[in-house]
Amino acid sequence: MIAYDPTNHTCALHTAHTTYQLAADADGRLLHLYYGPRAGAFRTVPPPHNDPGCWPDLLPQEWPAPGLGDNHTPFFALDWADGSRAADLRFAGAEVCSGTEPLPGLPSFHTGGETLRVTLQDPRGLTVTLLYAVFEDCDLITRAAVVQNTGTTPLTLQGVPSGVVDFGRKDLDLITFDGAWAGERTPFRAPVRPGVQSVGSVGGIPTHAHNPAVVLCAPDATETSGECWGAALVYSGNFRIQTERTTAGIRLSAGIEPYGFAWTLAPGECFVTPELALVYSSRGLGGMSRCFHNAVRGHLLRARWQDLTAARPVLLNSWEACYFDFNEEKLLTLARAAKTAGADLFVLDDGWFRGRNSDTTSLGDWAADTAKLPDGVAGLCSKIRALGLEFGIWVEPEAVSPDSDLFRAHPDWALQIPGRDTLEIRHQYTLDFSRADVREGIWQQLTELLDSCPISYLKWDMNRSLANVWSAALPADRQGEVYHRYVLGLYELQQRLVDRYPDLLLENCAGGGARFDLGMLYYSSQIWCSDNTDALDRLMIQYGTSFFYPPCVMGAHYSTVPNHTTGRTASVEARMAAALSGTFGFELDLTRYTPAQLAELRPFVDFYRAHGALLRTGSLYRLCPPDGSGAAWAIAAPDGSEAVVFASDRALDGRCLVLPFAVPGKMYRAHIRATGQELQNHRWDGEELAVHGLPLPDLRADLPGYLCYLQQED
Ligand code: GLA
Repeated sequence: MIAYDPTNHTCALHTAHTTYQLAADADGRLLHLYYGPRAGAFRTVPPPHNDPGCWPDLLPQEWPAPGLGDNHTPFFALDWADGSRAADLRFAGAEVCSGTEPLPGLPSFHTGGETLRVTLQDPRGLTVTLLYAVFEDCDLITRAAVVQNTGTTPLTLQGVPSGVVDFGRKDLDLITFDGAWAGERTPFRAPVRPGVQSVGSVGGIPTHAHNPAVVLCAPDATETSGECWGAALVYSGNFRIQTERTTAGIRLSAGIEPYGFAWTLAPGECFVTPELALVYSSRGLGGMSRCFHNAVRGHLLRARWQDLTAARPVLLNSWEACYFDFNEEKLLTLARAAKTAGADLFVLDDGWFRGRNSDTTSLGDWAADTAKLPDGVAGLCSKIRALGLEFGIWVEPEAVSPDSDLFRAHPDWALQIPGRDTLEIRHQYTLDFSRADVREGIWQQLTELLDSCPISYLKWDMNRSLANVWSAALPADRQGEVYHRYVLGLYELQQRLVDRYPDLLLENCAGGGARFDLGMLYYSSQIWCSDNTDALDRLMIQYGTSFFYPPCVMGAHYSTVPNHTTGRTASVEARMAAALSGTFGFELDLTRYTPAQLAELRPFVDFYRAHGALLRTGSLYRLCPPDGSGAAWAIAAPDGSEAVVFASDRALDGRCLVLPFAVPGKMYRAHIRATGQELQNHRWDGEELAVHGLPLPDLRADLPGYLCYLQQED
């Protein structure tokens, strides 16, 4: 619910448990008053200061503008035609609208909600419209801004935040989600230090190094209690999320990374920022995450896959089974084995197109290599479907190999700076997706592929960061638009794809999880978490991922041991625990399995199917962090009537797992499958589980795993 009082220019955004307040002061400055537990009364607007010159530096502001007394490091930066750089934005009105406003060309939270539009004006010729959307059910507030040149001369934006939140306190911890290839999104927590600190990307995609999402929390906040504010960008390109601690408190700013960004607005033109998603929770990090999960599932995923009752197919992906080394017969043998193990969908990964026998060639030539697939993709697809499996395929549409027909025909389609060597990463260049003609060329190839046979799943990969960013289609003074136009081009193509093929299950991927963000989730309801399928490493990767993204969007596959990335072994149950808590699939050479070994995999697939709806819709509880002392997590029905509990690590041997969702007074029946043991029909009182915990058996294995299904008795 949004309350706007036009007499004193106060606005309150209420969700079920939170309130966000802002107001214009007597001078027309838009101030941030409050963001915390749901509140009725307004925080007071500070009275005007008797030295107006130093005042802006101390004020909590909703959209701080540079150059006129606010001495924080500006995120919003612009050049007027006369070379001056200051902006003086004052309140000019507000209105409440039902529903959410689509952000042209950008992904955003949608369905339901209410929007507050606040207009700020600079009489020199600048209007900023701040958009706040409120999704009460999941305590989500989103922000975005539309910046318009209302003057008579061009102006250039050098940096535009999606949102800024001023905290009138200095004692907050910052949690960022950092990593590298095969080790994405590891949480890092430390007190916010004085001055500016930031995470971000200049690689054109978020990259493996930092996720575009952070948490600010009280120093005493834990998984189950304490104040937390989560902020996540709905954006898939260069980003910056920055805190600045001054004597006035902490300012959080988030938006497109200013490096490489310059956007000129002719008179009348607008720039729309990506969206920033905000959640406040007083119920600790777990409470915050559950709000984000509900928001993603309820308001971000596309209609077809937002229906969480619709089962996700169990897939087998050919990558770790074959890499580039396969022919049709090998694929069909693999598919038969996958079918016996219980899979629904066979995914042909890299290596299927003209001349692609290693990662050095052929990206951009999206037609079958008939040496491997004599009847083309359509022929393989019909043979796979005849086995009773759906068919899916891998593409990397943004990439081009120097050794490809596409590059030979259109060398100018790759991002490159004239007069400089173009950097190859993984032996490939990146196509200039800021250009409509380049996108159209790829679109023609993609539709030809997708129209050639019933393809029900597409894995869209992107295996490098951008470099040599310069576009032949833009003049010198507009090259600062290329990074963002690239992302807009990517979004346009994925939107076309899901519009034309509404039932297609799209899975995004970027060398594992280098582009795992809310923007991509708008188009694809699952994203490949990481190229690292090692059960132990996955504990941390999926734990970190779960702070913002629900389990049902995390691509997670059961793979072989020793693991191809780490060389480690882990029990079947540990590998299954990691894979079954995401979008489950197999990624190993099942042709090496005997029929009896394949049959042993069936119960896990049956487990996934039996509890699929719960796994997709349930509430995640991170019971023990994967810090070396054992990892455990549960996905429970919101009313606590049933739950799946997963655990992994020897350190948990014989320990009890406290289950906060268990309802005292209700009896629970449990079925525990653990490495080397199976325990049926044990019964516990909910109070016992919630206070003392669920006792785990004592196991003796390198990396044991536990899978437990608990159900309340009537
Ligand atoms: C990336 C992906 C992998 C696989 C390979 C194929 O690394 O993350 O899953 O598809 O590309 O080249």
